[in-house]
Amino acid sequence: MNSHATPSLPIDFQRIASSQLLEVVHKAPKAELHIHIEGSLEPELIFEMAARNGVALSYPSVQALRAAYAFTDLQSFLDVYYAGASVLQTEQDFHDMAWAYLSRAAAEGVVCAELFFDPQTHTERGIPMAVVIQGLKSACDRAQREWGLRAELILCFLRHLSEEAALQTLQDALPFREHFVGVGLDSSEKGHPPEKFARVFARAGDLGLHRVAHAGEEGPAAYIRTALDLLKVERIDHGVRCTEDPELVRRLARDGTPLTVCPLSNIKLCVFPDMGSHNLPQLLDAGLMVTVNSDDPAYFGGYLNENYSALLQAHPGLGARHAWQLLHNSLVSSFAPSDLKHAWLQRLDEHFARAALA
Ligand code: HPA
Ligand code: ZN
Repeated sequence: MNSHATPSLPIDFQRIASSQLLEVVHKAPKAELHIHIEGSLEPELIFEMAARNGVALSYPSVQALRAAYAFTDLQSFLDVYYAGASVLQTEQDFHDMAWAYLSRAAAEGVVCAELFFDPQTHTERGIPMAVVIQGLKSACDRAQREWGLRAELILCFLRHLSEEAALQTLQDALPFREHFVGVGLDSSEKGHPPEKFARVFARAGDLGLHRVAHAGEEGPAAYIRTALDLLKVERIDHGVRCTEDPELVRRLARDGTPLTVCPLSNIKLCVFPDMGSHNLPQLLDAGLMVTVNSDDPAYFGGYLNENYSALLQAHPGLGARHAWQLLHNSLVSSFAPSDLKHAWLQRLDEHFARAALA
């Protein structure tokens, strides 16, 4: 399978002016496949929840907290991110966090959001699994009802913790098995290779869960290989370091393995020095199934459409055809049933065809 798809309708991409492109992209139907829901918690909501739950914060104000969002690498971010998540206590908190994100996503044209959540960040603080999952799930159900937005949950294991802890987490989540569609692997990548989690991913596979993993963000291309070979993942989260291994790039292209790339995140965490140096155009040229995502939008300076804007503005060589391809890839790479995907893809093509005629 190759990711260079053809639209279902004739679309004259040349007729979409670059001055029009961002607006066309912003209004297009799209999927978000790499969003840590705890990373959507805005400072204002952190302070509101801290106040209502009586949690002390080490920052005196929203402004002071936001000023601390100057990261040098993944770990410097994770330290602040886990501190922010400590205000989440009740089912209502989890609902409110997810609802804030989903409302925003709906306004940005997102028709499908697959949300990562980190149960261990909460259960380690004594918050019951039921509180976490039921709070998030009720917001997902509400998004479907109110916006027609399909929202699913993916349970992530924290890779800096042990595989035993991950196995226990999966076990504790089993009473809520129908509330999540897959498992993922996140947190500190370096020194925590995918093979550390081979047994828990095998168990998740036996349970019929989808499997994804962060790999090749800060860690080496070898982690992408072991995530594929040993964890049997269907998508790679980030994966931008695959270019260090040309044979791996050919394999990813041949298999159509989606990469959920997060442009603003990669700049904020210094994976690339600036957006103009981001290798996403190179990944697309290599025929990879690249998608654009926001990762932790409250911390990295932008939600999904801002990621598209920042990328397209920094790479004038990416035009309407490329933008369409990225949007198409996002919908194709979701875990939604194929009839839904086809309906979304048709809407995407009609949207671009209309823009080309305008
Ligand atoms: N990488 C790894 N773990 C994470 C991230 C990320 O970008 N965001 C939240 N947890
Ligand atoms: Zn991530």
